[in-house]
Amino acid sequence: MWFLDRVLRRVERQSNERAGDAFSTQLGFRAVLAQISDFHLRDGDEAPDHALANAVEAVMAVRPAPDAVLAGGDLADTPTVAEYDRVKRLLAPLPIPVYVLAGNHDDPRMLEDAFGQPQSYSADVGDMRLVVCETWLEGTDAGALGPERLAWLESELAADGRLPTILALHHPPVHIGLTAIDGIGLPREDGLALAELLPRFPQVRRVVCGHVHRASYSVLAGVPVVTVPSTNIQAKLEFGVDEFDMVAETPGFAVHALVDGEVVSHIQPVERRA
Ligand SMILES: [Fe+2]
Repeated sequence: MWFLDRVLRRVERQSNERAGDAFSTQLGFRAVLAQISDFHLRDGDEAPDHALANAVEAVMAVRPAPDAVLAGGDLADTPTVAEYDRVKRLLAPLPIPVYVLAGNHDDPRMLEDAFGQPQSYSADVGDMRLVVCETWLEGTDAGALGPERLAWLESELAADGRLPTILALHHPPVHIGLTAIDGIGLPREDGLALAELLPRFPQVRRVVCGHVHRASYSVLAGVPVVTVPSTNIQAKLEFGVDEFDMVAETPGFAVHALVDGEVVSHIQPVERRA
């Protein structure tokens, strides 16, 4: 009997060591990027502020702690300098870098003044790379890449292919089936141009977007395209309808993690509180 006990203990120890190896391998390549989006802070309404505070708290509860946060556009609604001050104050508890991206409701100059980041840029997030490319267009809720931004993106991706890369755009480059929201997306030629570009840069593992106030998953030229819920209100799921309704469905955010060398995206719900 004692012999069987010893054998069982040795098998248990060996399997624990193997599990530990697998875990430490993951930790060796670990990188976690949280993506929060579409806060729409506005004067005279405190609900989006409370919702953003809840989302920030939920991001800080993620274990292991994220390496950085992407604030993916429509941070302010009107927008005003006071709204960006409130955004900054609500994001201040995050003890990690916060990368911002302008949405159609934002003012890119005010955003740049508030956060000191350019409108398109790249940053390393642990062992991943984040490339932020602006799609903001003056005077419209739709967005655009266009030849200049596409040329910037091409040179940025060509300059550094070391790490699995997440490309962040506010407007998704694909239709998600909600006709009214698709109508204020990127022009079809931008989606096609991006579809031609991406296969040349296999380091791009994910395109991540906001704007549509829903979690959705699609594919462009073999690259998964993920959209994230708003921290506040969501777009109702209604295909082929010419107007969209906003509904009080569960808010959420995304967590993009590098696991065994590949990007895995989770959508994490955020509990609504009074
Ligand atoms: Fe938007």
